[in-house]
Amino acid sequence: MGSTVGSYQDHFNYKVVSQFAIATIVWGIVGMLVGVILAAQLVWPEITFNIAWLSYGRLRPLHTNAVIFAFGGSALFATSYYIVQRTCQVRLFSDKLAAFTFWGWQAVIVAAAITLPLGISTSKEYAELEWPIDILITVVWVAYAVVFFGTIMQRKTKHIYVSNWFFGAYILTIALLHIVNNIEMPASLFKSYSAYSGTQDAMIQWWYGHNAVGFFLTTSFLGMMYYFIPKQAERPIYSYRLSIVHFWALNFTYMWAGPHHLQHTALPDWTQSLGMVFSIILLAPSWGGMINGIMTLSGAWHKLRSDPILKFLVVALSFYGMSTFEGSMMSIKTVNSLSHYTDWTIGHVHSGALGWVAMITIGSLYYLIPRLVGKKDMYSTRLIELHFWIATLGVVIYIAAMWIAGVMQGLMWRAFEPDGTLTYSFVESVKATYPFYVIRLIGGICYLGGMLLMAYNVYKTLHNKRFIDAPIPAPLVMAH
Ligand code: HEM
Ligand code: HEM
Repeated sequence: MGSTVGSYQDHFNYKVVSQFAIATIVWGIVGMLVGVILAAQLVWPEITFNIAWLSYGRLRPLHTNAVIFAFGGSALFATSYYIVQRTCQVRLFSDKLAAFTFWGWQAVIVAAAITLPLGISTSKEYAELEWPIDILITVVWVAYAVVFFGTIMQRKTKHIYVSNWFFGAYILTIALLHIVNNIEMPASLFKSYSAYSGTQDAMIQWWYGHNAVGFFLTTSFLGMMYYFIPKQAERPIYSYRLSIVHFWALNFTYMWAGPHHLQHTALPDWTQSLGMVFSIILLAPSWGGMINGIMTLSGAWHKLRSDPILKFLVVALSFYGMSTFEGSMMSIKTVNSLSHYTDWTIGHVHSGALGWVAMITIGSLYYLIPRLVGKKDMYSTRLIELHFWIATLGVVIYIAAMWIAGVMQGLMWRAFEPDGTLTYSFVESVKATYPFYVIRLIGGICYLGGMLLMAYNVYKTLHNKRFIDAPIPAPLVMAH
């Protein structure tokens, strides 16, 4: 290993970054495999032999927790720890505390993987874990905040690079959301009751749920975007000023949009309208951020032809733009009356999740992993290229199937005969959806297949001795 590499690796704590990076790939495969099993269950309901632990109702929260918190969470720990060290030019605030966050977070994931199939759940979506696990999450998260903000306080650079602003907002907001939504009264070790009831409970839950999307799946990944796109494109951010406006506008607006999950419910009507208005406003900062990322490529567009990592990063931004446009439209009450309860929502979710969250993560990891071990590139660029196409094909198949299925379901459910009776029975809409579930399953298998290619490529990168070690490049140059 060259001396430059040695000194960088001694200088920074790359161990914890590497651990989280590997965990991201492992949990990504596990979480997506569960997603594929769910998709298969919707085609062949008895595929898991009616075993209670593997029933749809128990595997579904396992899937969402695994992909959001295990896959997405590990990716965010890895990249935020890497970026904060590189842009602040100091080692993490505390190695021991950082190691604690790694093992603590893995313990949370394992606890989730055991309790959810057993049916132990609070029943609040994305906050299903019972109170002892909630407490562990809180402790790990506080340790994360200490490591992250402690590192920023010890920085050797004058500026706090914009990615760190986004990561900082996500860490603080998730702490707030997690604690408020999980205030509950334990009845036993595995059972608790929410402190809120009725409509208030629903409102708090979707204030949490929407901001979990907003901060866990968006703000944080924008932090990733603001570092890895300029790095991979070898261009400074298009506009540093726009990134600051983007930051404040996005964070302010997201907080108010939660009620769009509760349109046409018992929630006061003005609250629903407020949620709708803020969701439409949210389009502006969302697209501001997307444009800032895409325009960073000005003058470097030709790189897209030959660089599959850049393809992942840029296509992720395109899906970000598409899913935020779609979300703003779906929050409009009349549109929501068609889309709600249908597979259109599932299409929207996965255009954000597979197209934006997973693609930006995959692109970032392909940049990061060789650098963590002092190598210039991944083992095989052609495999990255193949991964890119199979993943893109997978998302497009998945979301197109769900859009068609969703709009069809919405239209069938609201079709009336002149005498006021329903044109279709519910089961007719299920039957009509069937082919689209088969197509979605194919899309899911493609996406999972891409992740397996990635695992192989990463394994070869880590173990192939034929590589020439390359020095790690200089820290990010900031643009103003
Ligand atoms: C401007 C940005 C966005 C807006 C205004 C928005 C709006 C919406 C709306 C109106 C719904 C349907 C609610 C319902 O009828 O139940 C929804 C659902 C959802 N969206 Fe978005 N969305 C946005 C961006 C995103 C992104 C980028 C992601 C993923 C990374 C995402 C993930 C989700 C999820 C997971 C749900 C389903 C929640 C549930 O019912 O379990 N959204 N969104
Ligand atoms: C191979 C990839 C994947 C497949 C096949 C898959 C499949 C599924 C299926 C079948 C459902 C249940 C839909 C329903 O109940 O009608 C689901 C729900 C969900 N998935 Fe995935 N998924 C995949 C990847 C992901 C990823 C990477 C994320 C997030 C980063 C994600 C986030 C979610 C969320 C939030 C829901 C709940 C949506 C809601 O309640 O509205 N999925 N997924």
